[in-house]
Amino acid sequence: MAWEGRLPFLLSIFMFLSMLSSLSDCHPHPAWPVSSRAVTAAATNYTARKASDVAAEVAGYADVAKQIIDLAVFGAAQNRSYRRLADFTDTIGNRVSGSHNLDLAIKYMHNAMTQDGLDVHLEPVKIPHWVRGKESAEMIAPRAKNLAILGLGSSVGTPPEGIKAEVLVVQSFEELKRRASEAVDKIVVFNQPFVSYGETVAYRAYGASEAAKVGAVATLIRSITPFSINSPHTGLQDYQDGVKRIPTACITIEDAELMWRFAQRGQKIVVRLTMEAKTLPDADSFNTVAEIKGWQHPEQVVLLSGHLDSWDVGQGAMDDGGGAMISWEALSLIKDLGLRPRRTLRTVLWTAEEQGGVGAQQYYDLHKANLSNIDLVMESDLGTFTPVGLQFTGSDAARKVMEEVVKLLAPINTTKLEAHGEGTDISPWMQAGVPGASLHVADSRYFWFHHTEGDTMTVQDPQDMNLCSALWAVVAYVVADLQDMLHRSC
Ligand SMILES: *[C@@H]1O[C@H](CO)[C@@H](O)[C@H](O)[C@H]1NC(C)=O
Ligand SMILES: *[C@@H]1O[C@H](CO)[C@@H](O)[C@H](O)[C@H]1NC(C)=O
Ligand SMILES: *[C@@H]1O[C@H](CO)[C@@H](O)[C@H](O)[C@H]1NC(C)=O
Ligand SMILES: *[C@@H]1O[C@H](CO)[C@@H](O)[C@H](O)[C@H]1NC(C)=O
Ligand SMILES: [Zn+2]
Repeated sequence: MAWEGRLPFLLSIFMFLSMLSSLSDCHPHPAWPVSSRAVTAAATNYTARKASDVAAEVAGYADVAKQIIDLAVFGAAQNRSYRRLADFTDTIGNRVSGSHNLDLAIKYMHNAMTQDGLDVHLEPVKIPHWVRGKESAEMIAPRAKNLAILGLGSSVGTPPEGIKAEVLVVQSFEELKRRASEAVDKIVVFNQPFVSYGETVAYRAYGASEAAKVGAVATLIRSITPFSINSPHTGLQDYQDGVKRIPTACITIEDAELMWRFAQRGQKIVVRLTMEAKTLPDADSFNTVAEIKGWQHPEQVVLLSGHLDSWDVGQGAMDDGGGAMISWEALSLIKDLGLRPRRTLRTVLWTAEEQGGVGAQQYYDLHKANLSNIDLVMESDLGTFTPVGLQFTGSDAARKVMEEVVKLLAPINTTKLEAHGEGTDISPWMQAGVPGASLHVADSRYFWFHHTEGDTMTVQDPQDMNLCSALWAVVAYVVADLQDMLHRSC
């Protein structure tokens, strides 16, 4: 998960665009001549008809849901998704966009899913290629101390000798504006408190450009996390057009608070920052696609997904190796049981999600001609810890169906259907009216490890992954096999 950075900034634009795209994609003919009363009446009628049938139809899947759960949680497939994730991440390591490791990862998964008996192909994508290079930061005054840093994705580097400058510590963008005259030629340190990832990530995303506007020469940003053992967290940052590009890196909570305390005491702080970071020309990559073809409506698709790329730290086991593995495992479970739904089950392992959902956007652009055949889009990119429910966005009629589907998950205690399906990679489809689902896990620890050296297999638990895989497989299979596609929200 990476891309929320742009969301606060673009939210209103997205809402506007989604309105437009709903109209153009769902009502390709002039929208207004259609009487809205007629549309409402038809939808109500449809809803009423479905409500009377749908509970019985979905309840008919109780046995098959139980079989999937038994296989994943207690049977021969127990711990398989965890073992697959360990083999994959131990072998390849981390997989940042544009890297040789990401190429190896795609080859590995193509090969592994083919050997598993799935129908696999690759779809070419051009992706960003940012390289970190060597980097370091040291506090020189008021005392000498090394600072643990991670440069932020897309940051420029410093001159080879580094940038040595006095520090201005601020707690917010408002404080920076108030003290703009003090920021000239300084390294601005942001020591913003952690509120939530979605809100606080604005400092990582826009801190460099905001500081550059008031004359700063570099920025160091407190990592976007509620918890730290001196661990810096990387992630994408976003230079504003027309604003000077200055080097930017994250520092630890501990060092941000240390420098804040020095500043409160009126002590002068001096830091030297050295970064080799640079952006190379876009690289060739692929989205990796595996399918079980539907027997009745092969052109209609339930799409499951996670992303194969990671940052260039840790193993990318949690973000998002786990999501990728359960999206593969779901197909394996269904295949192992000899099941084949009416519609096609398609697992897409996205490339370059961390760089802004790049692979997913290109996939949407290429395939949106088939929008009306995409039944449901699913993404797991918030960890594969203990599952607690399914997050879902769709029409009321679709929600009624999904409420019945999650009842089939009673054996694993995850019968909650929550609001707001989400995921960077599925959002283009959801904006266009396709129902979307995401996995909600007990994720209190997710942002402790997110985008750090700590994102390793040690964070993962085999039993949790069994449960996530079972949930993912039951939902995907049942929706793909129902008589009708889910009703659209527009
Ligand atoms: C509702 O559906 C029934 C049959 O399914 C149809 O005969 C009737 O015309 C529909 N009513 C409206 C208002 O669309
Ligand atoms: C699955 O993992 C759990 C927890 O580590 C372990 O107790 C169990 O024996 C494993 N099962 C298999 C089949 O490997
Ligand atoms: C649309 O779907 C059809 C049927 O599955 C397929 O043959 C075609 O390649 C798809 N086109 C795109 C652009 O995805
Ligand atoms: C589900 O909850 C029941 C009752 O609390 C418990 O006995 C069972 O072990 C749980 N099942 C799983 C898979 O967690
Ligand atoms: Zn992710």
